[in-house]
Amino acid sequence: MGYLDELFSLAGRTALVTGGSSGIGKAIARALARAGASVVIVARREAELKAAVDELAQEGCTAAWVSADLGTREGVRAAAEEAVAVYGEPDILVNSAGINLRPPMGELSDEVWDATMAVNLEAPFLLGRRFGPKMAERGFGRIIHVTSQQAHRAFVQSGAYGVSKGGLESLARSQAEAWSPHGVTCNTLVPGFVMTPLNERLSSDPDRVAALAARTMVGRNGLAEDFEGAAVFLASRASGYVTGQAVFVDGGLSVH
Ligand SMILES: NC(=O)c1ccc[n+]([C@@H]2O[C@H](COP(=O)([O-])OP(=O)(O)OC[C@H]3O[C@@H](n4cnc5c(N)ncnc54)[C@H](OP(=O)(O)O)[C@@H]3O)[C@@H](O)[C@H]2O)c1
Repeated sequence: MGYLDELFSLAGRTALVTGGSSGIGKAIARALARAGASVVIVARREAELKAAVDELAQEGCTAAWVSADLGTREGVRAAAEEAVAVYGEPDILVNSAGINLRPPMGELSDEVWDATMAVNLEAPFLLGRRFGPKMAERGFGRIIHVTSQQAHRAFVQSGAYGVSKGGLESLARSQAEAWSPHGVTCNTLVPGFVMTPLNERLSSDPDRVAALAARTMVGRNGLAEDFEGAAVFLASRASGYVTGQAVFVDGGLSVH
């Protein structure tokens, strides 16, 4: 085995990636699969899931999909068990599924609050509780949450979304405290502004897009592919001493 393989290869690992049919989750699923992991992606829409898995198969990757609504506890449980039935217990859990609904703060309904917390925060908690202890028993595991700069500061009507992402950062630290002694690291990837279907409205306004790009240090907005390297690192042996951390992949936006 070469040096880079020793550090970063995911051969023999299994991964579950929520939101793996679109945007950042799709790029991360592809990266983990190309690094050798067997990957199950989870989201609701079957056509997108199937298309993503077909693309991976064409590249010679091992991948499968499970359709489930992570906005309900039942959906999360079903997704977990269906995913395990494919390649076994995951060694790597990536929570990228997320929603961003932006009503004005004073009009934020119970429904928007509940839906946001369910998908963005509760599903990662439930999946972590399902898989984390077993990872700890086996002595290896990697949990990676995709949060947001809005976990750290308000930005374009952060509302419930920012709260859910702040909670997710704390969840990573709680999980890291619990399971790091047993070889399970828990970290977050923190995007800035990334051109994906999630923010279609904002990314279709060229002036806003240019203004946001100017706020980064690199001078452009993020692409889903920008997350590949950091995801492989956090999923691999190489990151065994990195835990409870927020890794900003934002072109310097947060420090500019
Ligand atoms: N794009 C950005 O600028 C940005 C910035 C900061 C943070 N983030 C975070 O990055 C993560 C990925 O975002 P993205 O930009 O890649 O968004 P995206 O392209 O819209 O992808 C979201 C994914 O989540 C899935 N999903 C949404 N609700 C779900 C549910 N109830 N059950 C199961 N799956 C569900 C979607 O599939 P279905 O709709 O088919 O279910 C899709 O696969 C999110 O957590 C987001 O908050 C993004």
